[in-house]
Amino acid sequence: MRKELLQLLRCPSCRRDGSLSPQRMHIREDKLWEGSLRCSACGASYPLSEGIPDLIADPSPTVLNEREAYAKSKEEVAARIQALAPATKEIELRRIALMEHTGEQFQLTSELNLEGILPHVRPLPGMWLLELGAGSGWLTSRWAALGLSCVATDISKDLKLDLSPLIMKQRRVYFDRVLADMTDLPFAAGFDLVFVSASLHHAENLGASLCEAARVLKPGGRLVVINEPMHGLLRRSGKRFIDQAAEDNPGINEQSFNYFQWRRALRGASLSPVFLFPPYYAAMLQEQTGRSVSSTRLTKLARLIWRSPLKRLVYTRTGTAIIQLLLGMNVCLIAEKRTGIPR
Ligand SMILES: C[S@@+](CC[C@H](N)C(=O)[O-])C[C@H]1O[C@@H](n2cnc3c(N)ncnc32)[C@H](O)[C@@H]1O
Ligand SMILES: [Zn+2]
Repeated sequence: MRKELLQLLRCPSCRRDGSLSPQRMHIREDKLWEGSLRCSACGASYPLSEGIPDLIADPSPTVLNEREAYAKSKEEVAARIQALAPATKEIELRRIALMEHTGEQFQLTSELNLEGILPHVRPLPGMWLLELGAGSGWLTSRWAALGLSCVATDISKDLKLDLSPLIMKQRRVYFDRVLADMTDLPFAAGFDLVFVSASLHHAENLGASLCEAARVLKPGGRLVVINEPMHGLLRRSGKRFIDQAAEDNPGINEQSFNYFQWRRALRGASLSPVFLFPPYYAAMLQEQTGRSVSSTRLTKLARLIWRSPLKRLVYTRTGTAIIQLLLGMNVCLIAEKRTGIPR
């Protein structure tokens, strides 16, 4: 962990900003590597191991369940790759770090949505970015490659943050890692951007997590969300996908929300959102993904609209809102932290 991050940390016990300082710390390549962080205000101490501080002071039963599920998966992976040569083991673990084990679909969706939202965000080198539920940090690395100071957080080291070095090595970037729960973030209000991909649907309480995301942003800072499932009034596939995932992954919290629920939760967190038509769907309708579009009546209609002059309506705020309300699709949004007196 870089020493500069210390000023952005907040003690998860007494919630004092900037009160954590290194104790008996082993430094490796100029980074805090093994030791602990101690709060000068309340005396609480948090372990820091392999560069990752554990700032989840009191894990909730949901977090404990999720951690247990990942620890079990890690054991299964370890047993499966045990007999492989070290280089092949590394390839297999990198595959997991890059989410390739979830199938090409998720990777393609994520890459296209991130690439598509970046021109709207216009990030600048040197900005501080915090990612919530980053997994291995495979998407954090994209922001780091643009010169941002990035911090990947997750509740689990197992099969998540402990895989980050493979990503950093391959993409030749650095980002910090912190064990943190998005419902109670151990950070002060110092970030220009908070980024979330496919993690908020694990939140125990969407509104509370969005409030936390807003709290750690600087005034005028922005939350960027991609890849969260959203169901519509007509198209419920986002909900079906989540319900299936909940059945397949006992112990892991899974929820789907509709457009109104997202809007309400964002506004309740003093965030002003702009929803974008998800770039992945645009690429799919333009037949740029190399994947065939399913031939339901709804998608046939969508393709007809796409080829007509009505297409430009899709990109207006009202057009996107109506489409998302009816069809859901996935969430792709930028929300600015509102400052001043709420109206
Ligand atoms: C589907 S994965 C998405 C990972 C990555 N963001 C991506 O897009 O590939 C969801 C991640 O959320 C993390 N997560 C679940 N509950 C969390 C919580 N309360 N706080 C922070 N992260 C959490 C999980 O450990 C997991 O890594
Ligand atoms: Zn403290």
